[in-house]
Amino acid sequence: MKVFKNIDQVKHFTSLIKSVGKTVGFVPTMGNLHQGHVSLVERAKKENNIVGVSIFVNPTQFGPSEDYNKYPRTIEADMEKLEKAGCDFVFVPEVDAIYKDGGNSFFVTEKTASTALCGKFRPGHFDGVLTVVAKLFNICHPNRAYFGMKDYQQLVLIRKMSEALNMGVEVVPCTLVRDDDGLAMSSRNSYLSTEDRKKALKINKALKAIKESFEKGNNETDNLKKIGLSVLVPDVSVQYLEILDANDLSSVENASQGCLVAVAGFCGSVRLIDNIIL
Ligand code: PAF
Repeated sequence: MKVFKNIDQVKHFTSLIKSVGKTVGFVPTMGNLHQGHVSLVERAKKENNIVGVSIFVNPTQFGPSEDYNKYPRTIEADMEKLEKAGCDFVFVPEVDAIYKDGGNSFFVTEKTASTALCGKFRPGHFDGVLTVVAKLFNICHPNRAYFGMKDYQQLVLIRKMSEALNMGVEVVPCTLVRDDDGLAMSSRNSYLSTEDRKKALKINKALKAIKESFEKGNNETDNLKKIGLSVLVPDVSVQYLEILDANDLSSVENASQGCLVAVAGFCGSVRLIDNIIL
């Protein structure tokens, strides 16, 4: 497995691969890798000749009171997991290399779907995500890029960005991976105390209760939300519970098959997100 820190080196490597007609699959990450990330690498491996992963804790997507400084950095364990998963190259740039301009002058901004869900509560977050992913796409020029459906809004916005800005990268949505107890895998789960982790299980339970009720014929969004909230409260301090169009995150009058049910809430001081498709 090749490890690149330097932008020109990784650019040169991927352009060489593509010049001989081979495909590059790419998995952008912030490290602290878990089985969810590994499943993205495995899928990319099946669909491409060469697979690369970036590990970069991106400062521009964290708010001033968020966890940028304490975000878990576990580079050695990450490298081992990637080697085992058959990753071909890892790109581990420094902050100064990615943000030569200081990171505060150029941004990619989306103005519709980014205002829903997490966008309401994390101002500037998606500008940071889209900007760094645009940079990583421009550096690595992958044929395909793989994103988990847990960060559903992120996935929608990156897909829209690639289409709107003619980036030519196929954005591949990948199944959300859960632990055996049903908790959606996330690097931030490591912040949960044993007690808060138990509370966090209510999130998946609530989503399942909503889906079950929908499958029995209930399509009233307000009523479905009430069912979800009755499972979540008081263990989860709910930030939002929404039922939206899964393609563009617009509001829907009644829930229908294929709609997104998305939730965000705090268990203790840890903010978790999760979702399910009806
Ligand atoms: O999902 C993540 O880990 C990050 O938001 C991403 C896509 C790697 C951009 O920093």
